[in-house]
Amino acid sequence: MMRIDVISAVPDSLVSPLNTSIIKRAQERELVEIFVHNLRDYAYDKHKQIDDKPFGGGPGMLLKPEPFFECIEKFLSERKYDHVIFPSPGGKFYDQKTANKFSLKKKIMIIAGHYKGIDDRVRQKFATDEISIGRYVLTGGEIAALVIIDSVVRLIPGVLNDSESALNDSLMDGDIIEAPYYTRPAEYKNLKVPEVLLSGHEKKIKDWKEEQSKLLTDKWKKINNLE
Ligand code: ADE
Repeated sequence: MMRIDVISAVPDSLVSPLNTSIIKRAQERELVEIFVHNLRDYAYDKHKQIDDKPFGGGPGMLLKPEPFFECIEKFLSERKYDHVIFPSPGGKFYDQKTANKFSLKKKIMIIAGHYKGIDDRVRQKFATDEISIGRYVLTGGEIAALVIIDSVVRLIPGVLNDSESALNDSLMDGDIIEAPYYTRPAEYKNLKVPEVLLSGHEKKIKDWKEEQSKLLTDKWKKINNLE
């Protein structure tokens, strides 16, 4: 079973998304165990303080190094981790290939700090992978941690049912966008499902899907300035 530990100053923000739908089911099936840790539990001064003013001035508060060190060193003494992931806008862009790589591992730790909001010695000392989920700034690493967990857990064998199979996903085998899907009714508010899908003609349907996929992939490349 894969084990994921997440450390956060706002653990509540992670609990509900991780206990919903497919990620919840993956834990119930004992294919992954996900532990959310509250940074404050590792603060040892009597006020349980986890933040402090930045050296050199500037606005806002920083998460102090000691609670992170206490917590991370404890976990590292208990088991070996394949990756210690630090979500940050300064990291390597996250993609399907990286998700595939992580999904093959057994022990992953994610340190959800805040950009500018965490003493950098934590990153320097412990991070094996600094990951950005895109060219924008979030309030903290928690949502990035959720993105990483969601994309990794769904790849663990047995997590998705056959009908949800990840094998022919968009972006699964390189950068391919799938043909669109439709369900009943065949016509709704004068909007029609493409005729070929109703035809029952397997070969034609297959050709149509391939053609749509190619069109959408080309369009996707164009709008994202790829190649
Ligand atoms: N923390 C803040 N912004 C982020 C981003 N874009 N990716 C990962 N972690 C972040």
